[in-house]
Amino acid sequence: MERKIKKALLPAAGLGTRFLPATKASPKEMLPIVDKPMIQYAVEEAINCGIEDFIIITGKHKRAIEDHFDSAYELEEKLKSTGKEKLLREINKLSHINFAYIRQRVALGLGHAILCAKPFVKDEAFAVILSDDVIDPDYSLLKEMIRVYEEVECPIVALEEVPTSEVSRYGVVDGVMEGEIFRISNLVEKPKAEEAPSNLAIIGRYILTPDIFRILDRQKAGAGGEIQLTDALKSLLRKRTIYGYRITGKRYDAGDKVGFLKATLDLALKNSEVSGPFKAYIREIAQRIGIDGLHGCEKTRG
Ligand code: G1P
Repeated sequence: MERKIKKALLPAAGLGTRFLPATKASPKEMLPIVDKPMIQYAVEEAINCGIEDFIIITGKHKRAIEDHFDSAYELEEKLKSTGKEKLLREINKLSHINFAYIRQRVALGLGHAILCAKPFVKDEAFAVILSDDVIDPDYSLLKEMIRVYEEVECPIVALEEVPTSEVSRYGVVDGVMEGEIFRISNLVEKPKAEEAPSNLAIIGRYILTPDIFRILDRQKAGAGGEIQLTDALKSLLRKRTIYGYRITGKRYDAGDKVGFLKATLDLALKNSEVSGPFKAYIREIAQRIGIDGLHGCEKTRG
């Protein structure tokens, strides 16, 4: 089997209910963080690891994703004729990348979405990126996971410690550290806090091997009545070792409103075009909240 990771799957068929009404007719993946849609951060992260083939698993109302990664002739001409070279370069910077789109006709879960890509992946390991887990662009998580994969040739999932009160939102694992990686002994999708094997949660970055497809083919619905990737990985564990890679950089749960706002704030601070005036505004807010907050505290104590 080929050891290099050349393909990335980006499931993008979800309904995005946590962002309604914004996502009623537009894909959640197209919500902009500063000036780029969420999904573009994921694509650029993979490109930085040498991945050039993308399979995006879409559903109804997701056409905007296809348009976003396509060329835009009229717009390009307009930018050319008005001398907006920088913007032109910006919108064309992904034009050498291959995008393929697969429709997940029914929303049967993440495991099912991955299974839809089976005919296009063939016999090679691949990355899975859930674009609503936004990783700090200065932290090369996927690159590190690919390096580990090339050494161990086993499936790898990204892991992060989360508060016990949040484990029910994630796939949760059990296992032991082996050097820099975590050898997984159990996985549970969205457990209740009291039933969770740990508070190490799966984050939306995976390196998977093609044997997962045989399992997904037979996988029954699990948590939430959906075909879960976590359950398929648990079955795969009977046949081979699966590792976890504990993340050390910043991750935002941008599928959640507060997480999305945090990502916006931090990424705006890293953006040279807006960071100056934005910092000044943050100072202004901090002062305002600080004074009001203190005032509120004094009142309560009094
Ligand atoms: C999915 C996975 C879950 C994982 C999470 C990471 O859940 O099923 O195991 O922990 O992504 O973001 P979802 O967020 O799609 O419900």
